[in-house]
Amino acid sequence: MAVFLKAAEIQSVPRGQGKKFNVGGKHIALFNIDGTYYAIDDTCTHKGGPLSEGKIEGSNVTCPWHGSIFDVRTGEESKSKNGIFFFRPKPHPH
Ligand code: FES
Repeated sequence: MAVFLKAAEIQSVPRGQGKKFNVGGKHIALFNIDGTYYAIDDTCTHKGGPLSEGKIEGSNVTCPWHGSIFDVRTGEESKSKNGIFFFRPKPHPH
């Protein structure tokens, strides 16, 4: 059974940007891609870089430390197909 935890107010993540949140003791990177929100683990699988601080192009985020690229929609790394855990953000009615 899915568990939903409040992560953020949607206004706090502008279009085309990512931001880190601590949700349930985990560092989560939340991205706003053209008004759709995606959440993945903030920790890069290579050496732990903060993906929330990476450059976003389309649905891809580039790790700011060494350049690994992840698709924020799936958590998959674009080259190796190794992935990171991804989450399905759910808007919460106020
Ligand atoms: S820590 Fe992300 S590419 Fe190295």
